[in-house]
Amino acid sequence: MKNIVILTGSGISVESGLETFRGVDSLWEGYNLLDVATLDGWKRNPGLVQEFYNLQRGKVLKAVPNLAHLALVHLERAFNVHIITQNVDDLHERAGSKNVLHLHGEITKAQSDVDPSLTYNIIGSEITSNDKCIHGMSLRPNVVWFGESVSNMNYAISLCSSADIFAVVGTSLMVMPAASLVDEVPLYAQKFIIDPDPSIDYFNSIKINKTASLGVEELVKYLVK
Ligand code: OAD
Repeated sequence: MKNIVILTGSGISVESGLETFRGVDSLWEGYNLLDVATLDGWKRNPGLVQEFYNLQRGKVLKAVPNLAHLALVHLERAFNVHIITQNVDDLHERAGSKNVLHLHGEITKAQSDVDPSLTYNIIGSEITSNDKCIHGMSLRPNVVWFGESVSNMNYAISLCSSADIFAVVGTSLMVMPAASLVDEVPLYAQKFIIDPDPSIDYFNSIKINKTASLGVEELVKYLVK
């Protein structure tokens, strides 16, 4: 079976009602990125950070997978599929995709403030200041903040470097190190970009300038004959 790797970003969840990061109605709107997405911001004002992510988590829990998430599951009939996502939502999993690697964490989980390897599923949409890890320390959102390392990068690189088919869906690829993954894909691999307004043209790829639901449907029809 051929290996297919799909690298997704916030654009794939737009049709589920979630915001992108750099659009007009961006996720950061009303919040300063340095206040809510950095370790310094967390140390300065943990309450504000929890408020921001509790709000985002509430939106994620209300959202449902769209046709793009669902169509990707069909690829598993014909390919060995791995999804690498920069998204912190769980819409790929809820759609039924088996192999989902989160580069930037999972908003539905909390992690210990002192040991990132200690993660907990969150019951409901909120982490509160009363929630503690087994060491009695605060819990923070299980998301990778700016300046923090991306612990799944090595695995992501190994997946990309053995891809026969590689598709990028709904990401501007403006954030490192995720953006560097396209450079790991072998020259011989067949490559696709699905984005209504792509800002990338890294490789000799087939461009599908459509929203994720239409674009992924087209990709799946093309690949699964
Ligand atoms: P961006 O906001 O940078 O890019 C979103 C992409 O989705 C753009 O290229 C849009 O054109 C595209 N898009 C918009 N609507 C779409 C639709 N309906 N279907 C398909 N594509 C659509 O967001 P990301 O690339 O996801 O990291 O951002 C990457 C990372 O930057 C995030 O994971 C986050 C952020 O900082 C961290 O928080 C660490």
